Amino acid sequence: KIIIIDFGSQYTQLIARRVRELNVYCEIHPFSKIPELDENIKGVILSGSPCSVRDEDSPRIDVDSIISKVPLLGVCYGAQLLAQIKGGNVQASTTREYGRAILTEKSEDNVIFKGIPVDSQVWMSHGDTITQLPGNAHIIASTDSVKVAAFKFDDANIFGIQFHPEVTHSEHGKLLLQNFLVDVCGCSQTWTSDSFVEMTVAELKEQLGDDKVVMGLSGGVDSSVAAMLIHKAIGKNLYCIFVDNGLLRKHEFEEVLESYKGLGLNVKGVNAKDKFYAALNGLTDPEAKRKAIGKTFIDVFDDEAHKIQDVKWLGQGTIYPDVIESVSVKGPSVTIKSHHNVGGLPDYMKLKVVEPLKLLFKDGVRDVGRAIHMPDNILQRHPFPGPGLGIRILGDITAEKVRILQEVDYYFIHGLKEYGLYDQVWQAGAMLLPVQSVGVMGDERTYESVVALRAVTSVDGMTADWAHLPYEFLGKVSNQIINNVKGVNRVVYDISSKPPATIEWE
Ligand code: XMP
Repeated sequence: KIIIIDFGSQYTQLIARRVRELNVYCEIHPFSKIPELDENIKGVILSGSPCSVRDEDSPRIDVDSIISKVPLLGVCYGAQLLAQIKGGNVQASTTREYGRAILTEKSEDNVIFKGIPVDSQVWMSHGDTITQLPGNAHIIASTDSVKVAAFKFDDANIFGIQFHPEVTHSEHGKLLLQNFLVDVCGCSQTWTSDSFVEMTVAELKEQLGDDKVVMGLSGGVDSSVAAMLIHKAIGKNLYCIFVDNGLLRKHEFEEVLESYKGLGLNVKGVNAKDKFYAALNGLTDPEAKRKAIGKTFIDVFDDEAHKIQDVKWLGQGTIYPDVIESVSVKGPSVTIKSHHNVGGLPDYMKLKVVEPLKLLFKDGVRDVGRAIHMPDNILQRHPFPGPGLGIRILGDITAEKVRILQEVDYYFIHGLKEYGLYDQVWQAGAMLLPVQSVGVMGDERTYESVVALRAVTSVDGMTADWAHLPYEFLGKVSNQIINNVKGVNRVVYDISSKPPATIEWE
């Protein structure tokens, strides 16, 4: 495997993704906690950083202890750090270079540039530049404004590159990484979803033995794929619980339960609608509603889990972005990101946690799901918030409002699928607004609710743009909703991006 040492760059996760796309397993570790470099580790990559190597308190590592053992590739800050520590010089650039640049020269014999043409585009993002290389290093590529775009140490497999091969705007960046991984480090590109499944199931068998595992399912991709892997390892000893909180989409509970059963999962559906509605009664503040829903979920789950004798483990669908330790480059402390999965079970349950997906990115989770033949209707599902329609009904929640919103949402989502638009948007849904407006139907004046439709494109939900859905489609769905859903006489479409808006309205 490959170790990526994180100095806090926004692109560190991208390096890991590219490496994995090349079927090589890698892990990200913060610069302050580098693991022992044993024989399994074939190479190390140093990430970029928001810091400057010229700052006194910039993050540093003991480079010699790495280069005495394995090949090393420094990217951006990583390259500058290498150059500086080994006796070169790094200065603030006179012209800061951000964005597109073109390779103007490369040394022909260099292995990491194998197959990469001069004239190809690379992506720069740096305020410092290497003005002098260490005596035993030489330039292997340049651009117009950056003489030292890449360098290598004369007699060692140590490379520095100033541009970012991990971003897609570096035309042949992936090839460069592949050259490093395969030709320099000697990695075999065998880390596939099939091998991941095989390895994980074997490990789970070993880890869990005859123990029982309880797991809350949500209908979402992560918890479903995690459950299937555990199921493959221990079969009926996995007890799944799927709670109907009364805030799911129309028919969602029945349909998802059916597909879980179809997959052979031992799953119990628990109808707890009334408990949730009771807990939500009269609440209007979004955070208060979230808390009430979260607490009720834990109560219901806890009750059910206690009905299972001798359960020892809690299964969770945690994925890699949730567990990567985010480095704080402004201080020595290292914190772990909190995530808002099912989580937060009371301590007294004393369950050990099993998280079979904690090494995967979202696209990796889908690949694994495909490798074990899970159906597309689970794998391609849009994300859906844990509190469900509870945060899409603005203000207080009643069973009747849920029913209205379920109908509206159904026409919207169904329409997206019918028009082949569902897979083009990242998430979609409807919001029931606490607003009444005047309308006219036939000869009658109406005074009914307004709903807002929201559909966004995004990669990870952190930023998002409103989806530019065809007018014809929006018009048709709007008509369907107003003609069929009693209590709604006006439909609007949300055209806000995130930021400054958020995806959900609450
Ligand atoms: P926002 O509204 O913050 O949403 O732009 C980003 C993503 O997070 C989801 N979301 C939640 N998911 N519990 C969840 O499990 C929540 O309380 C919650 N709030 C927002 C939202 O659906 C979107 O995918």
